[in-house]
Amino acid sequence: MAFAFFSLNVELCILAFVVCSSAQLSPTFYQNTCPNVSSIVGQVLQQALQKDSRMAASLIHLFFHDCFVNGCDGSVLLSNSANFTGEQTNTSSLRGFGVVDDMKAAVENECSATVSCADILAIAAERSVSMSGGPSWNVQLGRRDSTTANATLVKTAFASPTDSLSTIITKFQKLGFSVTDVVALSGAHTIGRARCQTFSSRLYNFSGTAKPDPTLNSCYLSTLQSACPQNGNMSSITSFDPGTPNTFDNNYFINLQNNMGLLQSDQELLSTTGASTIFTVNEFSNSQANFFSNFSNSMIKMGNISPLTGTRGEIRLNCWKVNG
Ligand code: HEM
Ligand SMILES: *[C@@H]1O[C@H](CO)[C@@H](O)[C@H](O)[C@H]1NC(C)=O
Ligand SMILES: *[C@@H]1O[C@H](CO)[C@@H](O)[C@H](O)[C@H]1NC(C)=O
Ligand SMILES: *[C@@H]1O[C@H](CO)[C@@H](O)[C@H](O)[C@H]1NC(C)=O
Ligand SMILES: *[C@@H]1O[C@H](CO)[C@@H](O)[C@H](O)[C@H]1NC(C)=O
Ligand SMILES: *[C@@H]1O[C@H](CO)[C@@H](O)[C@H](O)[C@H]1NC(C)=O
Ligand SMILES: *[C@@H]1O[C@H](CO)[C@@H](O)[C@H](O)[C@H]1NC(C)=O
Ligand SMILES: *[C@@H]1O[C@H](CO)[C@@H](O)[C@H](O)[C@H]1NC(C)=O
Repeated sequence: MAFAFFSLNVELCILAFVVCSSAQLSPTFYQNTCPNVSSIVGQVLQQALQKDSRMAASLIHLFFHDCFVNGCDGSVLLSNSANFTGEQTNTSSLRGFGVVDDMKAAVENECSATVSCADILAIAAERSVSMSGGPSWNVQLGRRDSTTANATLVKTAFASPTDSLSTIITKFQKLGFSVTDVVALSGAHTIGRARCQTFSSRLYNFSGTAKPDPTLNSCYLSTLQSACPQNGNMSSITSFDPGTPNTFDNNYFINLQNNMGLLQSDQELLSTTGASTIFTVNEFSNSQANFFSNFSNSMIKMGNISPLTGTRGEIRLNCWKVNG
C-alpha cells in the first residue's frame, strides 16, 4: 500500500515535471523548426535602422509595453477588434509596428506558422540593444501569442514619468523586479526620444511651483526650454541622451550624475534623498560592464513575465489580429 502511494507520487512528480518543463522558455526552442530566426530578425532590423536610427529604441520600448500588460504575449500588437479594444488606444508613444510586420513576413517566409509575434518582439529587443552597441544575451523563446488584449490594464501597468520613485519601484516590484532591476532597465533610456509633453512640466512649472525642477542642470534646462517652448508643439521629440543618442552605453547614468536626466523618473533615481537606487546608479556610471550584465539579466527577467506556453494562445499569422 505504502509502495503504491510512493509509486503514484513518483508518477505524479514525473508528470508534473513533463508538464512544467514543456511550459519553460528556452533559448533553443526553435533550434529544429526555425534555427535562423534571430539572424532573419536582425537583418530586417539592420535595414530599418538605415532609414530610421530611432527604430532600435522603439522596438525595445515596444517589448517593454508588451511584457508589462498581461505578460509578453504579443498583445500590444493587436489592433481593435469586435471582441476587445487594443492596447494602443490612447497611447501615441509606441512605434515600430511596420518593422515588426516586416520581421514577421521574413520569418514566415522561412518557417511558416512557427514563430510567435511575442518571440519576434523579444528577439527584436535583444538585436536592437546589441546592434546599438549594447550587450547580447541568449533570448529565451517559446512564447505564444494572446488571443485577446486589455486596454484598461495599460493605465495601471505603467508608471508615469512624473511618479515618485517609490511609486515606480512599487509598480516594478509587483511584477517581481528588484530595485537593481529598476535602475538597470531605466538605463534603456540611453537611446531613444521622448515627446515634450512627457517632461515639459519640469521646465516651467515643476509640481505647481511655477519654477523649473531644481534638480535640472541649468545649461541642460536652457537647451530643453529651447527644444520645448512653453506653448509649443508638445509632440516634438528630444533625445534621452544628447551626447550619444543612438548608442547603447552607460552615458545615461553619467548624465544623471550631471543632473541631465530627461524625465523626472530618470533623475529621481539619483536625486531622491536617501534613495535605494543611488548606489547602483553610481556603480553603473563607473562600470559599463556591470550595467551591461545587469541589464541583460533584467531583460531576460522581463521576458519571463507570464508567457503563454505549451498549447495556450496561438502562433498568430498576422501580428495585428487573432487567427480567424
Ligand atoms: C521606470 C519607468 C519608466 C518610465 C516612467 C518610462 C517613461 C518613458 C517615457 C515617458 C518615454 C517617452 C515616450 C513618449 O514620448 O511618448 C519613454 C521612452 C522610452 N522608454 Fe521608457 N519608461 C520607463 C521604463 C522603461 C523600460 C523598463 C524600458 C525598457 C527596458 C524603457 C525603454 C524606453 C525606450 C527605449 C524609449 C524610447 C522609445 C522611442 O524612442 O521610440 N523604458 N519611456
Ligand atoms: C540566416 O539568415 C541570414 C539573414 O537573413 C542569412 O544571411 C543566412 O544565409 C541564413 N543562414 C541560413 C543557414 O539560412
Ligand atoms: C471574437 O471571439 C469569438 C469567440 O472566441 C470568435 O469566434 C470570433 O472570431 C472573435 N472575433 C474576432 C473579430 O476576433
Ligand atoms: C481587463 O483588466 C481589468 C483589470 O484587471 C479587468 O477588470 C477586466 O475584466 C479585463 N477586461 C477584459 C476584457 O479582460
Ligand atoms: C480613451 O480616451 C477616451 C477619451 O478620453 C476615453 O473615453 C476612453 O475610455 C479611453 N479608452 C481607453 C481604452 O482607455
Ligand atoms: C503651475 O501649476 C499649478 C497647478 O499645478 C497652477 O495652479 C499654476 O497656475 C501654474 N502656474 C503657472 C505659472 O503656470
Ligand atoms: C508637432 O511635432 C510633431 C513631431 O515632430 C509633428 O509630426 C507635427 O506635425 C507637429 N505639429 C505641428 C502643429 O506643428
Ligand atoms: C550588477 O552590478 C553590480 C554592481 O552594481 C555588480 O556587483 C554585479 O556583479 C552585477 N550583477 C550581474 C549579475 O552582473
